[in-house]
Amino acid sequence: MIEEKKSFRTIFWRNGAVVMIDQRFLPREETYNEYRDVEGLAEAIESMVIRGAPAIGVAAAYGVALAAHNSTGDAQQTLDAAQEAGVRLSRTRPTAVNLFWAIERMRKVAQTQRGDVAEIKRRLLEEAERIHAEDLELCRSIGRHGAELVPDGATILTHCNAGALATAGWGTALGVIRSAVEAGKKVRVLADETRPFLQGARLTAWELQRDGFDVTVIPDSAAAHLLSRKEIDLVVVGTDRVAANGDVANKIGTYGVALAAKAAGVPFYVAAPWSTIDLETPTGAQIPIEERPAREVTHVGATRIVPEGVKVRNPAFDVTPNELVTALITDRGVIRPPYTENLRAKA
Ligand code: MRU
Repeated sequence: MIEEKKSFRTIFWRNGAVVMIDQRFLPREETYNEYRDVEGLAEAIESMVIRGAPAIGVAAAYGVALAAHNSTGDAQQTLDAAQEAGVRLSRTRPTAVNLFWAIERMRKVAQTQRGDVAEIKRRLLEEAERIHAEDLELCRSIGRHGAELVPDGATILTHCNAGALATAGWGTALGVIRSAVEAGKKVRVLADETRPFLQGARLTAWELQRDGFDVTVIPDSAAAHLLSRKEIDLVVVGTDRVAANGDVANKIGTYGVALAAKAAGVPFYVAAPWSTIDLETPTGAQIPIEERPAREVTHVGATRIVPEGVKVRNPAFDVTPNELVTALITDRGVIRPPYTENLRAKA
């Protein structure tokens, strides 16, 4: 099995609890929270203690296992608790398809269980741990495929955080960068700050600095300028859901970066495990886009920056049309247009 990197851990199971690094307080504080009930875990996903599509999926899987673990009832009551947990957890965040994918995997395992309570608990935890371990291996595989697309000496732009913090470890977009460096290439990373939640400024910068990468934070509004000046060789981002036609939902602002990359003739790559590919959703127009609380926009930390009473919109994701995507970097290989045919061929 592939070893998780050691410098920090995004999520793990410890003695009947789910433990997660609290991403709301990074880089200021590095604290690990323990969750012993499903409601607490669901609220942690909603409030972004943990975020990033694959990591949310892993958290939800552990949440279902936690519900079973906590059950003091008989087999049916234990299975009912797991089922209810799945329903609650599926309401936490709508865009990342990995959440629903992981809950469905847990449901399928629960479906095969019958009378033995201890066995139900064991099998559900085992499945959550398998989803966790697999994600790490998938990220490593994405990294290997993607590293071949990275020229030595490249300056790479990324948006949001699609790193070890957003997955079981290693990362998707940042996994490509980690693997390129592991293969001996020298790269420089530009991280969009990613307003309003600042995943780039806080999380990408933290995890890359922590692991010794050359990382520079830029305001989101600087990306088009630097692309147009040819100061960026390629863009690589993660995604929350890829539709059957190759349209890609990712953190708000990604679409603008893709447009600017196209205008500048710079390749725009999207890295994702197969669990993020949703062939049931025909195009990006059908992907649900989460609207998050206005406070994320009105405030920076504790300070209000928008006048009281002014209306605010806070869509957390946007959809990049497939024609702007140079290639999808998946654990099953690099997929190029036409996406409808080429995604189906790998399914
Ligand atoms: O709102 P977030 O922080 O959960 O959004 C995360 C992203 O948009 C990531 O780019 C995406 O989930 C891919 S993570 C490997």
